[in-house]
Amino acid sequence: MSRSKVTIVGAGNVGATCAHWIAGRELADVVLIDIAGDPPGNVAKGKALDLMESFPVMKYDIAVSGGNDYSLTADSNVVVITAGVPRKKKPDGTFPSRDELVKTNQEIVGDVTRQVVAHSPNAIIIVVSNPLDAMCHVALHESGFPSERVIGMAGTLDTARYKAFIAMELGVSVRDVHGIVLGGHGDDMVPLPRHTSVAGIPVTELIPPDRLNAIIERTRKGGGEIVGLIGVSAWYAPGAAAAEMVEAIIRDQKRVLPCAVYLTGQYGYNGLYIGVPAVLGANGVEKVIEMELNDEEKNMLAVSAKSVSSVVGVLGY
Ligand code: NAI
Ligand code: 2OP
Repeated sequence: MSRSKVTIVGAGNVGATCAHWIAGRELADVVLIDIAGDPPGNVAKGKALDLMESFPVMKYDIAVSGGNDYSLTADSNVVVITAGVPRKKKPDGTFPSRDELVKTNQEIVGDVTRQVVAHSPNAIIIVVSNPLDAMCHVALHESGFPSERVIGMAGTLDTARYKAFIAMELGVSVRDVHGIVLGGHGDDMVPLPRHTSVAGIPVTELIPPDRLNAIIERTRKGGGEIVGLIGVSAWYAPGAAAAEMVEAIIRDQKRVLPCAVYLTGQYGYNGLYIGVPAVLGANGVEKVIEMELNDEEKNMLAVSAKSVSSVVGVLGY
């Protein structure tokens, strides 16, 4: 049986780290694609080589290659898209508007998706580039793939942050914390304390409301907290969260993971990517699980969906 193949487009912080986590679990051979370097592709080639040189020490037995030539990616099982530009000052000293940034990343993700599809028509695409939920629409639109094969990574990251904060608060193992965060990848994402437990004990019995609310707020602003500390956005947890989705698909695990999924009526939304619990397996999104939400949770999801819709509106589809 030949080994599985995962392409990661964008060998920057998140992409290269995702490759590292994939290697640690020996999930698949990995191809890193990036335009950076002189000539373009050299950065991806160099990071792939550096990883390969670490494997005799770590005993990870996979192959990693890199460059800017999509023929390397042919017949990938999974493609992770992390290519994009961050929000940074323009030469005239002003910052790009949110809409300008959406348009720039729309061009990048659109171009990348077309090249990916030309070489891997049966792949499952995991989108990571921001603004996440909108970029999922771009990949879906440009790929022409069925929506179960175009999935966004945000919920696995936001949920990981939420669980980490709960474990830190209680001084317990992260392994015993269970919970879920729904909605778009923005400040109005929807952590669900009613569905959070520690070894089966409802979290609401363990953490007082004011502390739990603080954890929810910290989760919502988790990305910004890292930017405030480091100066650029996070990569260890995002890389791990994307690798968790890759593993569920490559190993056909039927994991129930919160993912940005194209909804077709579930939760009352149609034609919109939003974070919901999904069964991930060899076919991509194999099922969307519809949880019972109370009115407060439904309202929070509606606010989040409205934010996502306003960004998606910028795409002009
Ligand atoms: P980075 O700047 O370190 O890496 C991005 C890479 O994309 C760069 O190496 C760049 O050369 C490459 N790139 C740009 N245009 C390209 C193209 N046309 N083809 C191939 N490669 C191209 O950024 P980082 O930190 O790795 O973040 C990547 C993206 O992921 C950003 O959009 C970021 O906002 C997003 N992100 C999303 C998260 C989520 O939860 N969905 C979490 C963390 C980051
Ligand atoms: C994060 O949540 C910036 O989306 C990125 O870390």
